[in-house]
Amino acid sequence: MAVQKKITLIGAGNMAEALIAGMLKGKVATPEQLYATDILPERRTHLQDRYGIKTGADNGDAAAWGEVLILAVEPQVLGEVLQLTAQSIKKDALVISVAAGYPIGSLAAHLPPGARIIRAMPNTPSSVGAGVTAIALGPGVTEEDRETAEAIFRSVGTVVTVEERLMDAVTGLSGSGPAYVYLIIEALADGGVKAGLPRQTAEQLAAQTVLGAARMVVESGDHPAVLKDRVASPGGTTIAGLHKLEEGRLRATLINAVEAACRRSKELGAGPRD
Ligand SMILES: NC(=O)c1ccc[n+]([C@@H]2O[C@H](COP(=O)([O-])OP(=O)(O)OC[C@H]3O[C@@H](n4cnc5c(N)ncnc54)[C@H](OP(=O)(O)O)[C@@H]3O)[C@@H](O)[C@H]2O)c1
Repeated sequence: MAVQKKITLIGAGNMAEALIAGMLKGKVATPEQLYATDILPERRTHLQDRYGIKTGADNGDAAAWGEVLILAVEPQVLGEVLQLTAQSIKKDALVISVAAGYPIGSLAAHLPPGARIIRAMPNTPSSVGAGVTAIALGPGVTEEDRETAEAIFRSVGTVVTVEERLMDAVTGLSGSGPAYVYLIIEALADGGVKAGLPRQTAEQLAAQTVLGAARMVVESGDHPAVLKDRVASPGGTTIAGLHKLEEGRLRATLINAVEAACRRSKELGAGPRD
């Protein structure tokens, strides 16, 4: 779905660039519809040269321009940025924040009453178009707003809607999850090297195996346990490997990892918010 609105991005770092690239590639927006600000002149030049979009350093000017405002600065500076730009934001603008751990209530405290806010939690694979984003809808958000946010984040992957109270769980799973999987890929490759494979070959086999297995889950719609049972033949190699994973408590370890990251996200979110 193309978004027929002017979109401002405040903070043009990695996540903003992933969104700009995704929206243009997916024809969700044209370059003329995008305006990004950043304090670094190199970032502005880079985005202008690479994507042909409007860039600037004046957040107020950009905020006044956009009908959709994407806040993509670091959470530590978001309060200050909002303080300086809130009065410039269009009255009817949809505000989307990707700042990790920054609650809708804290955003609303900086914005005029009745501001429509969507909080989003994308993850790093968004930069290769394979991200997953959880969105939580603030009070007064319309169906059209939700569709707009979905179209924007679908341009870099898939989108789920959750209640805001589940954002820490999202952070523990899909936010931190890519790092868990990198560790798993590295370990699988180490196993391949131990079994005699050249390092590069082992890494390729490991990464593609994880990618392929994930696609099987997503595209078949089958439960992972069903797919696992299908590859584990009686007395075969796979069940021997699976037995070792169970001995090593892989499942409990991954559950613990998600739980610990979720807890840490809650702790960080409980800190002061300006
Ligand atoms: N990357 C991810 O996968 C991911 C996932 C989920 C959520 N997020 C959220 O997305 C946001 C951006 O993350 P990121 O990874 O893209 O970080 P980043 O690359 O550091 O991007 C932030 C950009 O905003 C700029 N900036 C800082 N203060 C500014 C201001 N007052 N006005 C305009 N621009 C300003 C920064 O410039 P300087 O470098 O000079 O500070 C930087 O270029 C964060 O809130 C993060 O929590 C990111």
